[in-house]
Amino acid sequence: MFNIVIFGAPGSGKGTQSENLISHYGLFHISTGEVLRDNIARGTELGKIADTYISDGKLIPDDLMISILADILDNTPEAKNGVIFDGFPRTINQAGALKEMLAERGARVDAVVGLEVDEDELIDRLIKRGKESGRSDDNLETIKKRLKVYHSQTQPLRDYYMKEGTYLPIKGVGTVEGIFESIKAAIKEKCGK
Ligand code: AP5
Ligand code: MG
Repeated sequence: MFNIVIFGAPGSGKGTQSENLISHYGLFHISTGEVLRDNIARGTELGKIADTYISDGKLIPDDLMISILADILDNTPEAKNGVIFDGFPRTINQAGALKEMLAERGARVDAVVGLEVDEDELIDRLIKRGKESGRSDDNLETIKKRLKVYHSQTQPLRDYYMKEGTYLPIKGVGTVEGIFESIKAAIKEKCGK
């Protein structure tokens, strides 16, 4: 298994760069945000729970999120060659759980692609996207909450993965293609592929 975590603040380009990573490495993509939004759109029980957290810019509780992810890994044969994890992990607890889940499969997180973008640019991008996205969390009030949650609960993972030796800092500003070139070069240097 070859596993990549794509990491960064809301609006840093995780989804955008995942598209490039999927076609380049042929890996299975799991965006926890998309899984939750799909459940909201289908009106499932999970969707009803998720909606209250997402529209308030808060994280879904760890236990629930970890069990959703474990379920996807267990029931997706296409994930056996490796996964691009987009939006997971987002807390130290989730990172520990991911480490265990992968270890059970004789695998690990091979690289963490950290898209680093300053806050003004993040807000600009999300406000712009909010004009068309229909996402309940793409409005200024919720964007500010999401960024606060990112700083307090998710950003500590940067140090966590630095210590693990897997964090690859990438400047996430510029053209989508240019950023992807930097990502490919960093992964090649770290993992040889
Ligand atoms: P999630 O869906 O993961 O959202 P997010 O992390 O807030 O990030 P976004 O999807 O908004 O941004 P992105 O980094 O993917 O950037 P994108 O490529 O779209 O999570 C949503 C919510 O679900 C969370 O708040 C939480 O409630 C819940 N959730 C999800 N996972 C969870 C977990 N593990 N635990 C608990 N709760 C969880 O780009 C953004 C915009 O910028 C786009 O318009 C794009 O076109 C544009 N753009 C991209 N690259 C560039 C560039 N280089 N230059 C200019 N514009 C660019
Ligand atoms: Mg996204």
